[in-house]
Amino acid sequence: MIKHETVEKNIGLMVLLIIIVISGGGLAEIVPLFFQASTTKPIEGLRPYSAVELEGRDIYIREGCHVCHSQMIRPFRAETERYGQFSTANEQVWEHPFLWGSKRTGPDLARVGGRYSDDWHRAHLYNPRDVVPESKMPSYPWLFEDKLTGKDTATKLTVMRKLGVPYTDEQIASAQDDVAGIYEIEALVEYLQVLGKTHSVYNNKR
Ligand code: HEC
Repeated sequence: MIKHETVEKNIGLMVLLIIIVISGGGLAEIVPLFFQASTTKPIEGLRPYSAVELEGRDIYIREGCHVCHSQMIRPFRAETERYGQFSTANEQVWEHPFLWGSKRTGPDLARVGGRYSDDWHRAHLYNPRDVVPESKMPSYPWLFEDKLTGKDTATKLTVMRKLGVPYTDEQIASAQDDVAGIYEIEALVEYLQVLGKTHSVYNNKR
């Protein structure tokens, strides 16, 4: 039996014991989540993003939208009143990578789909101050000039399939044609409009 005094006077031993305790606790908390149906099985009716939505999601990542916007509604009244049903793990099983974010300079977007019209999103992304005068969100005018070629879209779907997203051969075969020639803004708005809507269970009730 090690005496408490021995541990307090021996920093090396203390560090070692702390590592053992934290690793043990961490394993006990985290490892079961890899095997629980509630965190690994998709929510009822979940569908993968379409090729266009997936490209929109990549633009969202490229432009750093996730640096200012979370996609993770916490289970508190103040959050659910404002943003809708709190986020659950089974809605996110096909998100690679997760876009939960860790900072909210702007509002959470986990269920923004359907909250505004496509026109509102276009105006807002072209210049946020045209629709929200006090906004400090950046403008993204280049999204209205650049078009997608779709050259890498099929590869992206294939990689997603390797990660467990159930894309069909037909979806992969038509991916390039689905995307080629559309403006980046269209893909981004399509993505924003399905946030929280890729399954039927917690449709935004606001
Ligand atoms: C520098 C931080 C910042 C970045 C980067 C940013 N936003 Fe925002 N966003 C905000 C702020 C602040 C607001 C609230 C004011 C407003 O509506 O413009 C906001 C609002 C929004 C809203 C309205 C949400 C609601 O519920 O009213 C959407 C949609 C949105 N942003 C999408 C995006 C997208 C898409 C991108 C990337 C292309 C992006 N934002 C990048 C700060 C940011």
